[in-house]
Amino acid sequence: MSDDKAMSQQVRVDWDSLRAAAIGAMRQAYAPYSRFPVGVAGLVDDGRTVSGCNVENAAYGVALCAECGMVSQLHLSGGGRLVAVSCVNGDGNPLMPCGRCRQLLWENGGPGCQVMTSSGPRTMAELLPDAFGGDDLADFKATPG
Ligand code: THU
Repeated sequence: MSDDKAMSQQVRVDWDSLRAAAIGAMRQAYAPYSRFPVGVAGLVDDGRTVSGCNVENAAYGVALCAECGMVSQLHLSGGGRLVAVSCVNGDGNPLMPCGRCRQLLWENGGPGCQVMTSSGPRTMAELLPDAFGGDDLADFKATPG
């Protein structure tokens, strides 16, 4: 069993609290262009909760997804690994993280990190199969010359 999977099985996840934190974050979203607020909250392996909201920009392409803010707060507040994540839309219902943000969750939670979906929790291994990660970089041995 991987360390990440073992970790996620040891931590009890209070999904209601996590969703409430995500909804609180969603209410702080700055989404004047899409009018699609998003909030996300993550449970860290030491019990902390970190959260984030989307922050848009007049230059549409530089919008920050909610998950970006959450991952920044994860590191700013001491690091650690995400074990469970709740991402919500403006109705407070589960929102599936976009492809880029699944990569962020993979980096900071690994395959065993659980993400709430409309059909219940699923692991990152299910949401991003055959993911690219740090191991792929480590596997490559450049040949000199
Ligand atoms: N959005 C997120 O914050 N996270 C996602 O995983 C999907 C999309 C935001 C980006 C943009 O501000 C709005 O939702 C509409 O795409």
